[in-house]
Amino acid sequence: MKILITGGASGLAASIVRRLAAENGNTVYFTFSRSATAAKEIEALYPNAHSIKCDFTDPSSIEDMLTQIPAIDPDVLINNANGGIHKDHFYKTDHTVFAKSFEQNIIPTIRITQEAIKGFRKKKFGKIINIISSYVVNKPPTGLSEYVANKAYLLSLSKSWANELIRFNITSNSISPSFMLTGLTADTDERVIEQMTEAHPLKKILTTEEVADTVLFLTGASQHINGMNLLMNAGSDVV
Ligand SMILES: NC(=O)c1ccc[n+]([C@@H]2O[C@H](COP(=O)([O-])OP(=O)(O)OC[C@H]3O[C@@H](n4cnc5c(N)ncnc54)[C@H](OP(=O)(O)O)[C@@H]3O)[C@@H](O)[C@H]2O)c1
Repeated sequence: MKILITGGASGLAASIVRRLAAENGNTVYFTFSRSATAAKEIEALYPNAHSIKCDFTDPSSIEDMLTQIPAIDPDVLINNANGGIHKDHFYKTDHTVFAKSFEQNIIPTIRITQEAIKGFRKKKFGKIINIISSYVVNKPPTGLSEYVANKAYLLSLSKSWANELIRFNITSNSISPSFMLTGLTADTDERVIEQMTEAHPLKKILTTEEVADTVLFLTGASQHINGMNLLMNAGSDVV
């Protein structure tokens, strides 16, 4: 399979790229923004992994990316990249923060997905996998309204894609992981991590490798699995 993943050189996606590239028959194309060195390291380890520079804050970089998608001709698109989190109470957050974040996270994701869908429709096959967050189901943490709202928007898009595209044998599913230790969460206080671990139904924090295994499952899953949001929160919304 030819797999395209956004933001594949670092964090969760680096585990996903490694997991998918280790499978025979896969070719993995992954984007990077700041992690050029890490991208090169992954390419050195996996000859079937290829990096592409794409910075969601730079319109010309997004245009370049879009022109490359037809030649990649992906079978699977994984929407993973996220350009950071604005942390503040909603009432203190300037409205421009929401507009900018939407422009730099959601719009590039929409444009890349639209380009991938053109090829999916031609070959009557495709899989879209969106990385969301358990916060769209669990209690959203204080100070993350911009981040959680964007994730809810993407989850809604995923359902619309699932509905509109299944007649072309194209599926759209989401994975909603709970807290993981990555660059995104690197500034989390050690004591907060201890509290989260204690409160966790499994008494352990989700790992990026566990999510990568779930992505691998979805890349090989039946097209009858469509419109799902696989929550990886150990059932913490029901336990
Ligand atoms: N960590 C968690 O607890 C958690 C939980 C649930 C869901 N998620 C989701 O999992 C996904 C991956 O997050 P992560 O935890 O791996 O965070 P991360 O370590 O901060 O990684 C973010 C990824 O997005 C890319 N990125 C950042 N700025 C970008 C830009 N301007 N243009 C293009 N790409 C950019 C990064 O690429 P470069 O490194 O190359 O810049 C990196 O690969 C995100 O969608 C996040 O919302 C994370």
